Amino acid sequence: TQISLIGAPTDIGAGMRGASMGPEALRVAHLTRTLESHGLQVQDRGNLTGPSNPWLPPANGYRHLDEVVAWNQSLHAAVYAELQLGRLPMVLGGDHCLGIGSISAVARHCRDTGKNLRVLWLDAHADFNTNSLTPSGNLHGMPVACLCGFGPEALIEIGGQVPAIHAKWVRQIGIRSVDQGEKRFVHEQGLEVFDMRFIDEMGMRATMEQALSGMDDNTHLHVSFDVDFLDPAIAPGVGTTVPGGPTYREAQLCMEMIADTGRMASMDVMELNPALDERNRTAEVAVDLIESLFGKSTLMRK
Ligand code: ARG
Ligand code: MN
Ligand code: MN
Ligand code: MN
Repeated sequence: TQISLIGAPTDIGAGMRGASMGPEALRVAHLTRTLESHGLQVQDRGNLTGPSNPWLPPANGYRHLDEVVAWNQSLHAAVYAELQLGRLPMVLGGDHCLGIGSISAVARHCRDTGKNLRVLWLDAHADFNTNSLTPSGNLHGMPVACLCGFGPEALIEIGGQVPAIHAKWVRQIGIRSVDQGEKRFVHEQGLEVFDMRFIDEMGMRATMEQALSGMDDNTHLHVSFDVDFLDPAIAPGVGTTVPGGPTYREAQLCMEMIADTGRMASMDVMELNPALDERNRTAEVAVDLIESLFGKSTLMRK
């Protein structure tokens, strides 16, 4: 596998500053070297550039909409270009509004190549708000809705086709914070959500078996990893911590089972906020988990 790292250093969609430092923290935690130690070829494409964060209140239910559009257009182009080269894009966020640019590019590539798309959304949040449902106006709470065609014109049409994806292609895992109106909308649209209650009752193994079922040789698997998926005890360096997330062991199993499918062809690492971290430990945990996502195992496998 040939991996391309794409840094997207912005916190334009978040309600707290600092995720803009995420890409560099992942590099400092030895992301490239770690992947290379598993025989993977890595090219760090460096960082994209875009508008700085003006830190303004929301307008019409959206904070920084124009800037979010600019960043996502640029990310869309970068991710799409890597996929056309046959490489595996790994987006280093940046806040989760960037899932729009990343996944719209993956969906477009799947249309080009006749692939089926499956999106695994690892997150404490459903990120399925709209401007009328959002309690905050922060666009990092809206990317899944935008990808499914619910959002401002300029964001939903970035991939060239509206909607960019269908709700039935998505599996959300680790969810434990969904806003009032958002809850109803998730239900209406039929998003498949494996929330923490489900993981508690069924265990991570059965959860992942279900979330990964129904893929075939023609499936492109995209993993969108919001670092706040993890329990704050192991991952304090995020802007929107929610207690009661997967433990280190559960998260490792989740990543290992994704690796076992051999289908992952693109991914995002989002919401890491070094300003809130303790000596980069959250970046180090993220790199550990990414290692498992690419097949690190304790013993010889199969
Ligand atoms: N649901 C909340 C909101 O809309 C929080 C969203 C957090 N999203 C994230 N990608 N961390 O503001
Ligand atoms: Mn391809
Ligand atoms: Mn989240
Ligand atoms: Mn998120």
